[in-house]
Amino acid sequence: MKAAVVSSFGAAPRYEEFPAPAAVGDDDMVINVIAAGLHPRVRSQANGSHYTSTGELPFVPGIDGVGRGPDGLLRYVIYPDTRVGTMAEQTVIDARRSVVLPEDSDPVAVAAAMNPAMSSWVALRQRVPFQAGLNVLVLGATGNAGQLAVQIASLLGAGQVIAAGRHPGRLAALPAVGATDTVQLDPDTGSERLGQAAAEVDVVIDYLWGQPAASAMAAVITGRADRGQQLTWIQIGSVAGPTAAVPSAALRAARFQIVGSGQGSVSTQEFLAELPALARVISAGTLTIDARPMPLAEVGQAWADAASSTQRIVLTLDGHHESS
Ligand SMILES: NC(=O)c1ccc[n+]([C@@H]2O[C@H](COP(=O)([O-])OP(=O)(O)OC[C@H]3O[C@@H](n4cnc5c(N)ncnc54)[C@H](OP(=O)(O)O)[C@@H]3O)[C@@H](O)[C@H]2O)c1
Repeated sequence: MKAAVVSSFGAAPRYEEFPAPAAVGDDDMVINVIAAGLHPRVRSQANGSHYTSTGELPFVPGIDGVGRGPDGLLRYVIYPDTRVGTMAEQTVIDARRSVVLPEDSDPVAVAAAMNPAMSSWVALRQRVPFQAGLNVLVLGATGNAGQLAVQIASLLGAGQVIAAGRHPGRLAALPAVGATDTVQLDPDTGSERLGQAAAEVDVVIDYLWGQPAASAMAAVITGRADRGQQLTWIQIGSVAGPTAAVPSAALRAARFQIVGSGQGSVSTQEFLAELPALARVISAGTLTIDARPMPLAEVGQAWADAASSTQRIVLTLDGHHESS
């Protein structure tokens, strides 16, 4: 079969032949892939930098996607790790790690949105006792996951949803999808405005880490009227740096805790339990996501474009959708 194949961690995957996978276990199912998202997590899988990488080559990347099995049902599937991922004509799934989608779901929208949307959905439902009315700050709100976090916090009933990010144009679009306030992050102008806007937040969904997160912690806690008010900082991504100089005083001077949300800190069972409800929300078209479909055969170009694209690229095998 044809697949995107990673043969070297230093190069983009190539579209070439790869042995077709076979079902082995009782719950295994070979599916025809329809759409697979090119998420940051897939880029780090393909270049060997993700913390789950085993260093084994060659392999087919793709950690999730939409496909159709022999039972004729449309499914979203997610992997912990595998050597035959979703960027192939066919892949083997464990049916227990999939969710059946409504037949009228848009495979590209589901493949684009599930991974970035899952980050905030799982964080708010599994890593914090979230309830309607709590105030949320999304730090790094201009990426795909950040834009969806704004929408999901709003959907789950947050009071204030403060969107903080770097890109002014993308920030300006966020009030239309649920942000009650926006703060432009600029290292030259400091964090004073963030401290004012986000002084009363209860939960922070942090995609940045690095220096912006350390500055934001100090600003939010300094601005707080009641330092006994619980503040839970949920670490999800690290696009601004893998380490942050967390101010020790912040942890002493306020009821402040930092937790992470991702593969490992959230169990497989907890992730799987959240799939059906989130898939329903995305299939219903409730969330806005900017997806760009590209044929799997153009995987090399897709990799080059993904480095600078603000849209979520989705590799597609259109024939599999129509012929089912
Ligand atoms: N833990 C989980 O469960 C989970 C799940 C999904 C994703 N993630 C992680 O979450 C992060 C974001 O994912 P994504 O899908 O949203 O990626 P994305 O669509 O590529 O967005 C990344 C955004 O980060 C922004 N950015 C980069 N450096 C920045 C900086 N120094 N300061 C402020 N903003 C900066 C860029 O914003 P501008 O160019 O607009 O300024 C870009 O739009 C990644 O690290 C990803 O691995 C984690």
